[in-house]
Amino acid sequence: MIMLIFGGFILAAVAGLFYLYTRFKRFLTTERWNEYWKDKKWIKRFIAALPVLALILYCVFDLVNGVIVIINIAVIWLMTDVVGLLVRKITKKKPLFYWAGFIAIFLSFIYLGSGWYFAHHVFETDYHLVTQKDIGMEKLRVVQIADSHIGATFDGDGFERHMEKIQAVNPDIVVVVGDYVDDDTTKADMIKSCEALGSLKTTYGVYYVYGNHDKGYFNTRDFTYEDMCAELTKNNVTVLEDKTVLIADNIYIIGRKDRSTRDRADMNALTKDLDLSKYMIVLDHQPHDFDAQAETGVDLVLCGHTHGGQMFPVGITGELTGANDKTYGLETRENTSFIVTSGISDWAIRYKTGGAIAEFVVIDIEKN
Ligand SMILES: [Fe+2]
Repeated sequence: MIMLIFGGFILAAVAGLFYLYTRFKRFLTTERWNEYWKDKKWIKRFIAALPVLALILYCVFDLVNGVIVIINIAVIWLMTDVVGLLVRKITKKKPLFYWAGFIAIFLSFIYLGSGWYFAHHVFETDYHLVTQKDIGMEKLRVVQIADSHIGATFDGDGFERHMEKIQAVNPDIVVVVGDYVDDDTTKADMIKSCEALGSLKTTYGVYYVYGNHDKGYFNTRDFTYEDMCAELTKNNVTVLEDKTVLIADNIYIIGRKDRSTRDRADMNALTKDLDLSKYMIVLDHQPHDFDAQAETGVDLVLCGHTHGGQMFPVGITGELTGANDKTYGLETRENTSFIVTSGISDWAIRYKTGGAIAEFVVIDIEKN
């Protein structure tokens, strides 16, 4: 199925390249320049082919992002062409290929440039929740990170720098909600990142659950999931796989196995023996079990996985197909709050558009 979708993207990119080549040629066509090109058509073709060759070169070095960029530019150019056609029909003036091309290039730079920035700049996103339950302190500060996919937009050193920013907000608890590493992550970066997590000074510690990428899909890494768990444990990070810990006698952290695991426990099994008077935080990589989680009466569920939608229109398809209950942000069902983060990095795609950002989340929970 994945190969079929990717094949569709490749075909769309090839069609996009042909379309862009014709538009680049048109872009060079103005009344003033027409005379100049008359006996130099091959030069015109060559110049129009240069950006196409640059895009093909991008695909050679980075197929996924090259394909994404081609499709985006082609769609933007197509849209400006349609608008240009409408303007031409209304004003009954000459074709606006030059201006349509200029606007298409400008919009592509803005759209993809901002997408690159939002994927590589990490923002802090704050939430404020209240509870009737005794949390053992006036205000509990939880920091949630997910989807670091180490090696995508930053390596182990970059992860360490982000942990310094997280340390500066003085968290009581730090949770890592899956897709911490990916198939491309190196052992050196994994170890460096585990040490960075281990260096965090918190009141109640650092907790981790795995996501669909953490165990690796292609067996290409120079470390195993078990190696990583050993490194996390060595650095005092608590790995939770369908396990619950009680901290300070007031707060449960319930860490779930990822939804991609066949034998994961359901919410009833995980909560049936717990004291409902205590504050309950669930860590679940994929936001897909909201109703069952709300029914058990847990207080807070923290998820990642969606990357905030990553790129338009992926954001809306996740919820439309039922793959995710929510793409981004805070939602309340019954007495349960759900926070889905867009992640501190991204997956293979190096752009975040359509409102998605890279972030770490700071949640202040106050006793009402
Ligand atoms: Fe994921």
